[in-house]
Amino acid sequence: MAHRAYAHIEAEITGEPAIGARLDVHRLRPISVGGGTLTSEPEEFQRHVPVMLAEVMAALDPSPVDLIVDGTFGAGGYSRAILDTGCSVVAFDRDPEAIAAGRELEGQAQGRLRLVHAPFSTMDTHVESANGVVLDIGVSSMQLDQALRGFSFRNDGPLDMRMAGEGLSAADVVNTFKTGDLARIFNFLGEEKNAGRLARMIVERRQKRPFERTLDLADAISTHVGRGAKDKIRPATRVFQALRIYVNDELGELARALIAAERILQPGGRLVVVSFHSLEDRIVKRFISDRGESQGGSRHLPQVNARVATFQKIGGAVSPGEAEVEANPRARSAKLRSAIRTDAPPRTADLSIFDLPKLPELQRAVEL
Ligand SMILES: C[S@@+](CC[C@H](N)C(=O)[O-])C[C@H]1O[C@@H](n2cnc3c(N)ncnc32)[C@H](O)[C@@H]1O
Repeated sequence: MAHRAYAHIEAEITGEPAIGARLDVHRLRPISVGGGTLTSEPEEFQRHVPVMLAEVMAALDPSPVDLIVDGTFGAGGYSRAILDTGCSVVAFDRDPEAIAAGRELEGQAQGRLRLVHAPFSTMDTHVESANGVVLDIGVSSMQLDQALRGFSFRNDGPLDMRMAGEGLSAADVVNTFKTGDLARIFNFLGEEKNAGRLARMIVERRQKRPFERTLDLADAISTHVGRGAKDKIRPATRVFQALRIYVNDELGELARALIAAERILQPGGRLVVVSFHSLEDRIVKRFISDRGESQGGSRHLPQVNARVATFQKIGGAVSPGEAEVEANPRARSAKLRSAIRTDAPPRTADLSIFDLPKLPELQRAVEL
């Protein structure tokens, strides 16, 4: 299973299989507005293929009057399908380019789509109540394809990886963090078995010349550890994954977003999350399991200690079908989990249930 997951991550980082997968599914789906349909983009426009769209829509089960939060607008694949059912959508993306590209659709949707340029963990400060929340975690094909964004080692680009384009870049991390901190990031977020060795190599090499380009870092890693005959993925894959997750605080964002979703979902509202590797899936699984438990209060303090389930799980994890994986290898390690909000009040925000890895704080880790 592990190599299967990493083959997908390599696909994400290199972008290779995803390119082969850009088939007719990229053709623009028209959205219906007031009985008519609108199509605005040219046929040849290469967009991100929405992963597990049918399964997402089945799990969300939207009614036309519903308001759905799409936390990860991307190329708007999910938002379009939700708008098609007659719902209203508030869609978030922290990438200014994704929001800018969605403005035309926002105009066409005649008030039924509101785009918000903000991290999805802040959804409860922008939306009071919703009937559904959907998250499609990770990066989009557009982000991977642009060498300038620095996510991929398939195309050389600046070592950046910031989805929002602000804060510490991957180059800042690689060129300034202590050896131990780099090793922890590679180990916890990339599950890289050579984490310490690679961290030491990076610190030694950067003293001569800082890392500025994606290929420079990828080559240095390959040269240092080589690629075994049995290795299914390229040597830099796990380090690139770790840097991307760290720079964008992806695990913290997901954990806080689940708590925010609990606050805004109405009773009967659906939470649907598509994730792409075990670190993310574990967070979603833990949350749904924690929130699905009810416990009576103690004899002495029945009200204070009682825990009432705030979500009811909808089955277990769902994976994409073979046809989708064949058409879009990016979908290969996707997992969908979903749950229905009960009428119990939201619980207090306690991030300890997620057991997130202890890593240097993004703001404080820079060695001055
Ligand atoms: C996998 S793509 C979503 C694709 C989308 N479902 C579609 O069908 O087009 C993920 C998107 O989520 C955005 N994103 C990732 N983390 C985010 C966060 N914490 N807050 C807001 N947007 C985020 C990324 O910038 C990217 O555009």
